[in-house]
Amino acid sequence: MRIVIVGAGGRLGAALVREFDGKFEVTGFNRAQLDLSDLQSIREKLGTIDFDVLVNAAGFTKVDLCETQPDRAFLINAEGPAVLAEICRRKQARLIHFSTDYVFDGEKTEQYTEEDNANPISIYGESKQAGENNVLAAQDQNLVVRVSWVFGPDRPSFIDTMIQQAQENKKVDAISDKISTPTYTLDIAEMLPQFFIGDTPRVLHFANAGQCSWQEYAQYAVDCCDDVGLSLKAKTIGAAKLRDMTNWVARRPAYSVLSTAKYTALTGRSPRTWREAVSDYITRFYSKK
Ligand SMILES: NC(=O)c1ccc[n+]([C@@H]2O[C@H](COP(=O)([O-])OP(=O)(O)OC[C@H]3O[C@@H](n4cnc5c(N)ncnc54)[C@H](OP(=O)(O)O)[C@@H]3O)[C@@H](O)[C@H]2O)c1
Repeated sequence: MRIVIVGAGGRLGAALVREFDGKFEVTGFNRAQLDLSDLQSIREKLGTIDFDVLVNAAGFTKVDLCETQPDRAFLINAEGPAVLAEICRRKQARLIHFSTDYVFDGEKTEQYTEEDNANPISIYGESKQAGENNVLAAQDQNLVVRVSWVFGPDRPSFIDTMIQQAQENKKVDAISDKISTPTYTLDIAEMLPQFFIGDTPRVLHFANAGQCSWQEYAQYAVDCCDDVGLSLKAKTIGAAKLRDMTNWVARRPAYSVLSTAKYTALTGRSPRTWREAVSDYITRFYSKK
């Protein structure tokens, strides 16, 4: 199978390229090679190559910057994906497009399913919702995969920032009243090929199992670092509150746990827990033993 990955320089896209290499015929495009804000150049670059599946892992993911650059957010997160979808339709290829838990408002107190209405509370979330709609409108075989709190070895994320802070400072805090679930890029790479051919749902939620606050997530990461012999100054992560984040420009959902019941019903498999995934990540990429 010929797989094209757009966003190949990002945290998720780079993991997908590496993990698919050798299993599929993979071509990755990073931002320099394919700019989603240049709609004509997307047509020129992708129009001439053949593929079976196009995975879009690119996006304008800087949530606060989207608030002050809404046109750019919609261009990259919605209009670019619409052009990808148009190209896929012409080639009868499937577009798998990544989206986010931030399409939800966070008002729910139980897991969000694929059937729940999106109601974004930020420009980032709005632009991602518009991208979902454009991808889904283009053809029935396209798939939107929503993930949350993505982490992995290809680009630092929250967990790496917390570990670095804990290495440098005795006191480290993280938010205790924002709840979702980390999703490991290597687990996304492992599960995604199940959806390359055959029937798929239109929208699919995928995250590691369970839920946590940022404080619990950071605390577990620090505990794992301790287990693998990485020396840290902070052993305990203190609690901060969402309302303390006065430097945030965009609103973020306080609760955005994605239900993976549909994934399990379709595949007969359950994602491993976020604790297993975090422990695996830290053992592989931070161990000093
Ligand atoms: N990170 C999370 O916690 C999270 C949570 C939920 C959903 N998601 C979704 O998961 C997907 C992957 O995110 P990620 O974590 O891998 O984020 P990421 O590391 O920021 O990757 C996004 C990639 O898109 C690229 N990009 C930005 N503007 C572009 C443009 N105009 N043309 C082409 N490429 C462009 C970036 O390029 P540069 O490298 O040059 O910046 C980057 O390589 C996205 O759809 C995101 O919305 C992420």
